[in-house]
Amino acid sequence: MAIQAIFRVLGVIPLLLSCAGAHQFVRFGYSGSICPSKWGELSPDYSLCSNGTHQSPIDIVRSATVVDPSLKPLDRDYNPANATLVDNGFNVMLKCGEEVGKMVIDGKNYTLKQMHWHSPSEHTIDGQRFPMEMHLVHASEDGNISVVAILYQYGHPDPFLYQIKEKVEELSREVCAGDEEAHVPTGLVDTKFLRRHTNKYFRYVGSLTTPPCTENVIWNVLGKVREISQDQAAALSSILGEEYRNNSRPTQPLNGRRIFLYHEGV
Ligand SMILES: *[C@@H]1O[C@H](CO)[C@@H](O)[C@H](O)[C@H]1NC(C)=O
Ligand SMILES: *[C@@H]1O[C@H](CO)[C@@H](O)[C@H](O)[C@H]1NC(C)=O
Ligand SMILES: *[C@@H]1O[C@H](CO)[C@@H](O)[C@H](O)[C@H]1NC(C)=O
Ligand SMILES: *[C@@H]1O[C@H](CO)[C@@H](O)[C@H](O)[C@H]1NC(C)=O
Ligand SMILES: *[C@@H]1O[C@H](CO)[C@@H](O)[C@H](O)[C@H]1NC(C)=O
Repeated sequence: MAIQAIFRVLGVIPLLLSCAGAHQFVRFGYSGSICPSKWGELSPDYSLCSNGTHQSPIDIVRSATVVDPSLKPLDRDYNPANATLVDNGFNVMLKCGEEVGKMVIDGKNYTLKQMHWHSPSEHTIDGQRFPMEMHLVHASEDGNISVVAILYQYGHPDPFLYQIKEKVEELSREVCAGDEEAHVPTGLVDTKFLRRHTNKYFRYVGSLTTPPCTENVIWNVLGKVREISQDQAAALSSILGEEYRNNSRPTQPLNGRRIFLYHEGV
């Protein structure tokens, strides 16, 4: 990109757009020789993707879920935060600055680190797949992860994405060399749309849905499907290369795991 090159020659760091260090992982994808069924063979670090027994995503069969009266409402506390929109190559991620907030499960803090989008959805409900799924990724100090997953159907624009509309457009114009990551700082992002009260969620223990498929994730899939406009979904997808516009891992076997349901008042 000519302008980037000029900035580099002048030694000036571009104010808004930038490319950063090469991806530090073995490339994986969603089709061809690097498709999900091959992930376990791409690197020894990815072996859980093929031989794990608690993998994600899953199909949530409503009639097989178990109401767990010990589950609590999702305890989340997010603040407005500075963030950076990042093109990871395989998905688009909004990386949070420090102190954006946390969720608390069984008295343990999980700090919100980043959120990213998959299209179509990775989790399905009674076999139904949705056009989009967002993952809010939280990590505890000892390295465990809790993800809040939100499913989207087409409809009204999603207010959270709406506020970073221009940044999404900037990121789609940014072209970085080879396997570099494109970054766009967003400034302050309002997270109030994300912490809306939820009266129903599905909880199960699973894995990351991308390599290395680590099995230390507490999943919280919200019961309420939210809306996103087709334009918003298309704008997010257009950032990614064509072979990553479908970045949904197929559903994985439950292997005896149970899916618990929190339903307020039930
Ligand atoms: C996306 O890719 C998966 C395989 O990874 C495939 O099962 C699915 O049908 C694809 N979906 C679309 C909408 O192309
Ligand atoms: C999965 O495969 C890796 C590499 O072959 C091995 O180290 C690991 O023990 C296996 N894990 C399970 C759960 O079978
Ligand atoms: C966000 O970044 C701006 C500019 O660097 C700074 O002035 C502001 O204090 C930051 N806000 C938060 C909540 O970190
Ligand atoms: C969780 O975070 C809060 C502040 O947000 C802190 O007061 C509390 O001590 C933390 N709890 C643990 C177990 O670290
Ligand atoms: C971290 O997750 C693993 C796998 O779910 C679990 O066995 C372990 O108890 C968790 N550790 C803590 C401290 O919650």
